[in-house]
Amino acid sequence: MNVLELQRVTVRYRERKIRSLKEAVIRTVLGHQRSDWFYSLRDVSVSIGQGESVGVVGANGAGKSTLLRVAAGITSPSAGVAITRGTIAPVMELGTGFEAELSGRENIFFNGALLGRSRNDMRTRIDEIINISGLDQFIDLPLRTYSTGMTARLAFAVATTIDAETILLDEILAVGDAAFQRQCNDRIERFVNGGHTVVIVSHDLEAIERLCPRAIWISDGQLAADGPSAEVIAKYQTWVADRRAVRQRAATASS
Ligand SMILES: Nc1ncnc2c1ncn2[C@@H]1O[C@H](COP(=O)(O)OP(=O)(O)OP(=O)(O)O)[C@@H](O)[C@H]1O
Ligand SMILES: [Mg+2]
Repeated sequence: MNVLELQRVTVRYRERKIRSLKEAVIRTVLGHQRSDWFYSLRDVSVSIGQGESVGVVGANGAGKSTLLRVAAGITSPSAGVAITRGTIAPVMELGTGFEAELSGRENIFFNGALLGRSRNDMRTRIDEIINISGLDQFIDLPLRTYSTGMTARLAFAVATTIDAETILLDEILAVGDAAFQRQCNDRIERFVNGGHTVVIVSHDLEAIERLCPRAIWISDGQLAADGPSAEVIAKYQTWVADRRAVRQRAATASS
């Protein structure tokens, strides 16, 4: 059974940037409306089954976070559809589902409520969440005083404790210290072994290969590869090396 299905998903933004005064004047004089679209995702189809652990790799700006935001229902596709089943707990860039002025403890309840968990339910889990987060002495301070890694710890602890069917992790491995990374690995493995689904975006290709049998490569908003993680990562690395070689040749030619 698929818990996540993206069918021909496109996410685009109207480019609002005016590059020069001349361009602005020409457009006004000629009455041209700039109608260029910027595509973050273009016609991407992906199905993820229950209990799968899938890695997402690709260059900066390729569209990985956009893909996760669509899966989490935070961003609506401009075209295509995203179908999801069960609770999906996203652990994303700073702040998604968290409030800066609330304390860590209040944020646990707040985030739990966003994920459909009652206050009572969260009360029974709060000690475990605080324990996993390792933030005991900071838990009653406002979230705005937390470092990036501390916020990630809190979000990860909530997401993996509330029994969500699926967790979406965006760059969580990169911001944590060594102890947290080890704990993340253990909990992700346990989560997957328990029949849950995990989607992990990371530039840590070794971690992706270790944690995810399957990987997806997003390149320039498009699905460039989908298959066994070792194969997909090898393709991605070849592309990275080729691109570097082309750039070096261009730099040498112009100097
Ligand atoms: N709200 C928005 N408005 C306009 N463009 C956007 C918006 N959100 C994302 N983009 C653009 O979409 C593209 C893909 O962004 P995305 O954040 O998905 O990349 P990414 O693969 O996660 O990159 P990174 O590895 O750096 O995190 C980028 O070029 C980005 O500038
Ligand atoms: Mg990103």
